[in-house]
Amino acid sequence: MEKIIDENKQGESLVIENKENNTKQLYIESYGCAMNFSDSEIVASILSDQGYNTTQSLEDADLVLVNTCSIRDKAEQTVRKRLEKYNAVKRTNPKMKVGVLGCMAERLKSKFLEEEKIVDLVVGPDAYKDLPNLLAEVEDGRDAINVILSKEETYGDVSPVRLNTNGVSAFVSITRGCDNMCTFCVVPFTRGRERSRDPQSILEEVNDLWSKGYKEITLLGQNVDSYLWYGGGLKKDFVNASEIQKATAVNFSNLLELCAKAQPKMRIRFSTSNPQDLTLDVIETMAKFPNICKHIHLPVQSGSNRILKEMNRLHTREEYFQLIDNIKRILPSCSISQDLIAGFPTETEQDHQDTLSLMDYVKYNFGYMFTYSERPGTLAERKLEDDVPEETKKRRLAEIVQRQREHSEIKTKEYLNTTVEVLIERESKKSDSEWSGRTSQNIVAVFPKANYKIGDLVNVKVTHCTSATLIGEALELSNNN
Ligand code: SAH
Ligand code: F3S
Repeated sequence: MEKIIDENKQGESLVIENKENNTKQLYIESYGCAMNFSDSEIVASILSDQGYNTTQSLEDADLVLVNTCSIRDKAEQTVRKRLEKYNAVKRTNPKMKVGVLGCMAERLKSKFLEEEKIVDLVVGPDAYKDLPNLLAEVEDGRDAINVILSKEETYGDVSPVRLNTNGVSAFVSITRGCDNMCTFCVVPFTRGRERSRDPQSILEEVNDLWSKGYKEITLLGQNVDSYLWYGGGLKKDFVNASEIQKATAVNFSNLLELCAKAQPKMRIRFSTSNPQDLTLDVIETMAKFPNICKHIHLPVQSGSNRILKEMNRLHTREEYFQLIDNIKRILPSCSISQDLIAGFPTETEQDHQDTLSLMDYVKYNFGYMFTYSERPGTLAERKLEDDVPEETKKRRLAEIVQRQREHSEIKTKEYLNTTVEVLIERESKKSDSEWSGRTSQNIVAVFPKANYKIGDLVNVKVTHCTSATLIGEALELSNNN
């Protein structure tokens, strides 16, 4: 399971509105997290000014770009398979150029050009503005690479084109990089140090999206609660900021409030929260503004204090419970979701039981669960032996998934016979006579189309449900349209 981005969107080629005078064809595929999909929109925007339109046919492409993910070994293997496929196409169209973007580009750097002979271009997540220069190099017959990580780059000044959009919901990135150094995680190495984007440019993007008819945005970052704008620069350098910079700094709850007030009818989501950085003022701001969706994605990774410490997650199980209690007290209607890892090095049966009992306490609405995958260069890889046997990891994961299924069912059933507000996003996958959308709590709901249309906020009476989906009937348009 991949988070936020639907499994069936992984690897989908992305298309944008074509410009009439553009003559070259770009085929761009994305894997991994929402941030990668958002980055691909920035890339397509930069290349659209360089004469490229998008195509969904690999065979027609002058340039093939793949935006890659390194989070687990399996993600990298998927990309390697795609490179083989491009290679086959390249044999019939030798003029086609292939570029690797994103986290794998950053992790493997020039190794990519040496190992994967078909790759012409390697571009890390902070170097997309250099694409025009790099492409010129490639056109001159040279390999091109830029994997420099930046202290400042937030792409705040690139207005992203929207790829494969439903015209209703969009991602807005607010921070890049991560300073947390969880010992299992490759992101701090592939995406660099944490920096925040100018709130003014975020608000401009939000306002622009509203004027184009969008009804929901998701503020994106590896760790959104850590957002801090003090005029630019790395989060870690905030301590050296001037008094005036400190006094006028904008933190995440300030940013949420700015967005909620700028467009009071726009639904606002955010992802991902980190327990050690999610402060009470964020929860209180969520309570104050009805347009901020009542859902918190709050990865915990493990329920064992010993494992949390080994993972360098800077909170205990007890502190996490306190946070959960605060969320439930201040935001009783809020849904909570998790990420969990089974089989981190040294994890015992007791540690695993602690994870299951933590799940019992919280009763998450849904979650994304993984077996531990050792990543080269991370602290865990350097310091700890990957000593939990694969079959034990798999068995523990299956138990975690089963427990989550039980909880999802309980939580979803709580909505039976209630009325929920649903933003219509698309036709249901199962029936062309039904709409599909999400509630404020990020629960999918389907119902007969009647006279409603995509982008409408509709009050829906829930009559049935599966463990993850609400099924109901639309009563009327909500007052929030
Ligand atoms: N803060 C980020 C986390 C990115 S990684 C965010 O925006 O969501 C997403 C999830 O992948 C993590 O929460 C973790 O549960 C999982 N993950 C990360 N590294 C992993 C590894 N080495 N093995 C297995 N799962 C991992
Ligand atoms: Fe990774 Fe931990 Fe950051 S999971 S992205 S290092 S919060």
